[in-house]
Amino acid sequence: MKEFDFVVIGSGIAGLSFALEAAALGRVAIITKRARGESNTAWAQGGIASVTSTEDSFELHVQDTLEAGDGLCDERVVRTIVNEGPARIRELIEFGVQFDERELPDGSSELDLGREGGHSKRRILHARDVTGREIERALLAAVAAHPEITVFENHMAVDLITLGKLGLASDDRVVGVYVLDEATREVMTIRTDRLVLATGGCGKVYLYTTNPSIATGDGVAMAWRAGAKIANMEFIQFHPTCLYHPDARSFLISEAVRGEGARLVDEQGAEFMSRYDPREALASRDIVARAIDAEMKRTGARCVYLDITHQPADFVKDRFPNIYERCLSFGLDITRQPIPVVPAAHYQCGGVLTNENGKATLRGLYAVGEVACTGLHGANRLASNSLLEACVLAHRCVAGIRAEPRFASRTEVEALDLPEWVSGDAHDVDELVVIYHNWDEIRRLMWDYVGIVRSDKRLQRAATRLRNLEREIQEFYWNFKITTDLLELRNLATVAALIVDCALLRRESRGLHYTLDHPNRDDRFRRNTVLSRS
Ligand code: FAD
Ligand code: SIN
Repeated sequence: MKEFDFVVIGSGIAGLSFALEAAALGRVAIITKRARGESNTAWAQGGIASVTSTEDSFELHVQDTLEAGDGLCDERVVRTIVNEGPARIRELIEFGVQFDERELPDGSSELDLGREGGHSKRRILHARDVTGREIERALLAAVAAHPEITVFENHMAVDLITLGKLGLASDDRVVGVYVLDEATREVMTIRTDRLVLATGGCGKVYLYTTNPSIATGDGVAMAWRAGAKIANMEFIQFHPTCLYHPDARSFLISEAVRGEGARLVDEQGAEFMSRYDPREALASRDIVARAIDAEMKRTGARCVYLDITHQPADFVKDRFPNIYERCLSFGLDITRQPIPVVPAAHYQCGGVLTNENGKATLRGLYAVGEVACTGLHGANRLASNSLLEACVLAHRCVAGIRAEPRFASRTEVEALDLPEWVSGDAHDVDELVVIYHNWDEIRRLMWDYVGIVRSDKRLQRAATRLRNLEREIQEFYWNFKITTDLLELRNLATVAALIVDCALLRRESRGLHYTLDHPNRDDRFRRNTVLSRS
């Protein structure tokens, strides 16, 4: 059995930022299920929103966030995160993150700020169109140089160990975690009284997503099984512009492209967003994604187009080198042709319910980053607010832990004898096809029944089918030796069911949740949807 003062699950911006700060207080383990750089963070394009210009103000950023959140943001949390943003940006720069700058006429330079949907000002710090890759690079380098941090790559957290599960206390808390080592296929037990979920989102629950393969909702599923409260899972954000090409899997065309004036047009080249919102292509994401969905349904088209050809080719190549090159590799020159795009699942606004310091409702458990529901996003996240939330909350989480008394003295923690993982009679999965079939079925049914536009009937259908799938998958879990595929499938099924359960409870349309049966906002539902196993 291993033991650490802090165990962090996940190596994206949230996990790395937390680890770097917590390492001043004790030994930190980072558990990450693939190579350390594999995360949603590494794919982030547009940038990180924060007030750094004299033409901007905290109040404007707060108001933009509240408006996108459609009445469900926690204003206190919004103000805290927005106000603390600039300090965290300075810290990222100290860690070596190189945000783009622009030269001023007097020869000095300032941060180059991008614009995205729902923002009233230019306030997005970015590194060309690969901001997440740059942040991940700098934070990983700092982690590698830190003597108090140990990174376990290709190790997947399976389940949290709680006193309640051990039958030791009615006053429940987390005391450790089981972790599958992919190389040996052994499950190790790690003891800790501070466990931080930084596992990111759940885009892979949907057939079409901008997310990489790690995004299977593991943190939410583990927290749910352990008894923590989960909130607002009905609010899944669909990004309006994912590249539509048969060979391109999950490639995002950043909102920053619209920020530089790109227009959304149909096959005939006719602009259509002005019929839906006066902000046109820069309306908030829920509005743009629904408008595209409506246009595609109305015309029967398979995609719409994003046109940036009005900008000089050199500007496009310099500002969006990654998008330019990637599209070119599919034979699309975006300086001359409009880009075929469709909406795709992008971001989980709900998650493990926490306070403004990342503390979950189960003692010893913390959640930071996309896995958490802090109250910042409400019913719809404002673009580029998630990288901001992750680093602000990581900092606040460490500060909160510093201030709280420890659960037990070191010797008391060491005295806890946590049981080893037992595989019993489990055997190897004999037919992998059963896992892949269920995986595909969940993703397709979520896309068809729990997508951009929902209805009571579609949600009920999804709920019934998911209950059967969950039973079947639970049987595999008990009968077969665990693998990452099987664990991810089990987590996907749990998270899919949580999304549907939350959606069924919200009998109104608000933000990202739109249902044909209750198409209007109803302020009787102006509250979080909170689920707990008890
Ligand atoms: P992640 O970065 O997703 O990291 C999760 C980590 O947890 C990974 O290391 C993963 O391997 C690990 N993990 C998961 N489950 C387990 C397990 N069971 N055991 C062990 N390890 C596990 N947001 C913005 O603010 N600005 C943007 O410009 C932006 N662009 C985006 C572009 C794309 C294509 C995508 C997909 C997202 C974008 N987002 C953007 C959203 C943003 O990137 C994410 O919300 C954010 O990076 C999440 O960070 P995180 O640290 O919470 O999780
Ligand atoms: C993008 O670049 O469009 C993604 C920004 C975000 O998800 O916040």
